[in-house]
Amino acid sequence: MLLHQQSAFTALKTHAQQQQALTLKEHFTLNTKRFNELSFVFNGDLFVDLSKQAINTTTLPLLCELAHSMQIPQAIKQLFTSNAFNPTEQRAVLHTALRMPASAELYHNGENVVPAVHAELAKIHAFCQRIHSGEWRGFNGQPITDMVNIGIGGSDLGPAMVCEALMPYQDVGIKPHFVSNIDAAHLATTLANLDPATTLFVVSSKSFSTDETLSNAIAAKQWLLDACDSQAAIAQHFVAVSTNSQAVADFGIDPNNMFIFWDWVGGRFSLWSAIGLPIALAVGFERFEQLLAGAHEMDEHLRTAPLEQNIPVLLALLTVWNHNILGYGSEGIFPYSQLMHRFPAFLQQLNMESNGKSITLTGQPVDYVTGPIVWGDVGSNSQHAFFQLLHQGTGVVPVEFIGFINSPYNYPSHSHKLLANMLAQAEALAFGKTAAAVEAELRAEGMIEQRIAELAPFKVMPGNRPSTTILCKELTPTTLGSLIALYEHKTFIQGVLWQINSFDQWGVELGKKLANRLLNDLSGQDSGYQHDASTQGLLDQIKQWKN
Ligand code: F6P
Repeated sequence: MLLHQQSAFTALKTHAQQQQALTLKEHFTLNTKRFNELSFVFNGDLFVDLSKQAINTTTLPLLCELAHSMQIPQAIKQLFTSNAFNPTEQRAVLHTALRMPASAELYHNGENVVPAVHAELAKIHAFCQRIHSGEWRGFNGQPITDMVNIGIGGSDLGPAMVCEALMPYQDVGIKPHFVSNIDAAHLATTLANLDPATTLFVVSSKSFSTDETLSNAIAAKQWLLDACDSQAAIAQHFVAVSTNSQAVADFGIDPNNMFIFWDWVGGRFSLWSAIGLPIALAVGFERFEQLLAGAHEMDEHLRTAPLEQNIPVLLALLTVWNHNILGYGSEGIFPYSQLMHRFPAFLQQLNMESNGKSITLTGQPVDYVTGPIVWGDVGSNSQHAFFQLLHQGTGVVPVEFIGFINSPYNYPSHSHKLLANMLAQAEALAFGKTAAAVEAELRAEGMIEQRIAELAPFKVMPGNRPSTTILCKELTPTTLGSLIALYEHKTFIQGVLWQINSFDQWGVELGKKLANRLLNDLSGQDSGYQHDASTQGLLDQIKQWKN
């Protein structure tokens, strides 16, 4: 039975109607233990407060009942016993094996995959040692100082996000750069500041057939050859990360310079594999291992915690509560950390490519809402940009705030101000400001009554807008690993609740095919295809303006 056919779902609908009249303020007045009852701690590192969500202590048991009826415990078990499956691509789903300790076992087609994972990790370790010690040298004998990852989507966003988040740990490694866009500006502006003699390229592509990545890699190869005119230099300056050895060899990268991963790792779940090589190169292999260990700890939490205490499960259930029951439209993610600048973009691929689906696992169209639009940016910047809509817009956007308590930068008042701003936003969203409070404030300022009556409606804050706050003790490789895995599992559990395949991405294929056809038209070769009037008109305009 699908989500909305479950009796627990009907019970939740009724429950929502019954308690809709209660504001968040009233919830807190009615239950003074609310904060304690609706907050959760993970490993002494992460603290998750759900008390500003529009729920009460009977909502969570009802949501957990729904989780049971949607067989969430079985799905979790399957994830850790290699029975999770991506049916449309006929691939296993085993990314949790990438962060298992060497002693663990996870079988796929009768074979334990963990030894192969650790063999590849050992290869990454050895390579990092050669780069970091200066043993590996460029074409004119200088050590490598910079690394450019060329990849896109899952072969870019994860490593780029982690490298930026762990910038304070970039003291042992080489400087990372990331080129993804087929807009030449991305490659050109990156290379402009680099020396070919000391630059290593990591060409990352699961399929090794993604056009943007291959075009950028070809241009980067030419940039190197222009500087040294020696084919032999390619082996000193290019390594590849892929599942496709043949395509890597065809591209001209030495197979000894290739790091592998497996088709059972989805692109957006791949930063833990060799796709994370840029992370190890930037912050050191030991920190990469700590990142993996943090993710594994979250895996263990998902695997063993009862549903009522299981943080990824609760976050996924809250999405169902907010979107399928209360009818809210999108989900805002706001890390209060400049270092986490790329986290919303990473989460967008993770969640929207996974759960932007409208066909169930059995091939039926869904008649309920699935993946919401996930969006966000860092605080406090976003407060001065679009938070206005969150506070006073006509729609309600459930929000997740992520705050980091201890900063590696020694500006104590900045850290306090950052956290104060985050808490203030959650408080304002939840409790708002009534007309009476606004009027009293204006009166105290000495404003005349007529002006108060005119101005007050504009200053009323409706409040009652739900948010979750996640506090992280410190942004370390370990806590970051746990946090990313938390969101991976939230995404996976959402997919199970919605009965969709979170591990394929057919929706991106048509655009790729059409782009190839349009490329022919733009390059002056007639594709022989009759475009619609708008596309043809735009093609003509482009041709007219192209110099
Ligand atoms: O086009 C979407 C996509 O396939 C993503 O799922 C993937 O992360 C990205 O492209 C890059 O793919 P690849 O690693 O094979 O180059």
